[in-house]
Parts: sequence; C-alpha cells; structure tokens
Amino acid sequence: MQTSRVFDAVAAAFPGDPQSTDPIDPLWQRLAEEVEGFTGTNELAVLNAAAAALPDDEAYLEVGTFKGRSLVAAVQGNERTRFYAIENFLEFGMTGQDARAELQDNLERLAGDADVHLLEGDAFTLMAQPGVIDRPIGVYFYDGDHTLLAHYLALAVVEPLLADEALVLVDDASWKVVQRAHRLFLRRHPGWKVVRTWDVTGADDLRWANGMHALVFRRSDARGRSLSRTDEGLRRYQTVLQDKINKAAWKFGTRLPAPVKQGLVRLTVSRARSVGGDDH
Ligand SMILES: C[S@@+](CC[C@H](N)C(=O)[O-])C[C@H]1O[C@@H](n2cnc3c(N)ncnc32)[C@H](O)[C@@H]1O
Repeated sequence: MQTSRVFDAVAAAFPGDPQSTDPIDPLWQRLAEEVEGFTGTNELAVLNAAAAALPDDEAYLEVGTFKGRSLVAAVQGNERTRFYAIENFLEFGMTGQDARAELQDNLERLAGDADVHLLEGDAFTLMAQPGVIDRPIGVYFYDGDHTLLAHYLALAVVEPLLADEALVLVDDASWKVVQRAHRLFLRRHPGWKVVRTWDVTGADDLRWANGMHALVFRRSDARGRSLSRTDEGLRRYQTVLQDKINKAAWKFGTRLPAPVKQGLVRLTVSRARSVGGDDH
C-alpha cells in the first residue's frame, strides 16, 4: 500500500495536531463508549484511516482483539477490505465462552457488513502457518502480549506476510519494553523505519492509551520473505515454552484475591511498562 496516503488521511481527520486534538468525527468517541477496551479515540481514528487506504488485494491484520474496540473502529466504512483478527482469549482473566460471546456480539452490532475473519489462537503460531492469511498484509496493528520477546516477534513473524510496502501500528509503544524491542528488531532487519510516535506522558490516555508508533516496512529484495534461523528459534521458544508459562500465569492469577493480584502485576510489569522512556 501507499503508506503516505494514510498520513494525509490522518491529518485530515483532526482539526489540528493529532497528538493533542480530538478527532473531528465523534464516531470514535461513541465507539470507545460502546465497546469496552484499551485503545484511545485518536488511535481508533488512525486505524480507520489506515484500513481505508488499503488496496483490494491487500488485507488488514490485527493481533489482540479483546472485545473488539479497535477492530470495530477499523472496519467502519471499509466493507470492501478483508480483515483478519487474531485473539487467544487469554489475558485479563478472559475465560473462553464469555469473552468470545461479547466480542461476537460487538462484531454483529457494529461490524455486521464487514469482511472479518476471526482467528482464535496464538498469534505467533497462526501467523507462521502457511495459508492462514490469503493475501499480503498492507496494514498490521499489534496490540497483543507486551513482553520484550513478544514485541520483537510481533514484527519478525509478520514480516514475511507483509506487502512490499506496509504500515505497522503498535499500541502501548510509549512503554520502554516496546521501544527496546523495536530498537533490537530494527538493528537486525533492513527496510523498517519508525515514522510517527504518538506518545503519552501518563498511562491510559483517553486519546492515545499508552502511545502508538507507526512503522513503515519497504521490502527491498528477497530478504524478509521468511524468518531467519535466529528469529525462528525465538518464535519456537515463545510458542512452545513461553505460551505455556503465560497460560499458567493467567490461570493462577485469576484465582488470586484482587489485592494480591494487583500487587503482583505492579511488581512484575511496572518498570517495563513505564512510559516516555528510552532505556538504551
Ligand atoms: C490490550 S488487549 C487488546 C485490546 C483491543 N485491541 C482493544 O482495542 O480494546 C490484548 C489482547 O491480546 C490478546 N493476546 C495476547 N497475547 C496473544 C497472543 N500471543 N495471541 C493472540 N492473542 C493474544 C489478549 O488475550 C488480549 O485480549
């Protein structure tokens, strides 16, 4: 896709600087009120503008759908676009049937005409399976697991699936852990550039949640059509071992009393998830 078109559309969707003004269209605010979720209104406007700029022979891919807020925003007015959404219904104590039912209900109410393919399972497994996605990905939104390895793999595993020019939007990008993963990845993979950093100074900003970064990928040669041996090794670690650890941790976590759970979360994630930092 021609990624510059997205940035023109984003500029037109705001009355001033997107960093510090609300989107012109009140729809994004309305959707944020109607669908429980973790993305901010300005992020919703950007996702929608990105999807609108896709040519018909490319698809939109989202990892981390939760109850569908970001996906429902992306599909509005984009009925001709093919959307893939990957969700493993693991985080936030989401237990199977309930979470799925809430997402399905939101999709039926607010994305009924859209061409949405919901893929249930682990993103790092599904994205590496040949044939799961039927066309090049022109827009990719990552809002899944937020460890250093997950954010590195979020770019590594999608690279072979991307169109020759593609836009990659990453949520929670003001977190140190995300920026560190991007630096590690970009050092080893040519063709990538961070082109916008809509950062926040505090957590859970109503416009930008925990910050969104836009990266552009341009394929220059045959490289990036398959995973390197190192990246495949990391992917296997994530899908075989780390996935089991995550599942056990979420299962254990949901059984703990709320105050204990909150204390544990604060202890384990607070440093990595602090915003506004570059921790070289
Ligand atoms: C922050 S939420 C997504 C929020 C959503 N985009 C919104 O707009 O509200 C992150 C989601 O990613 C899912 N997730 C985390 N790791 C994943 C993985 N490896 N594969 C698939 N889904 C994953 C979690 O179950 C969770 O629902």
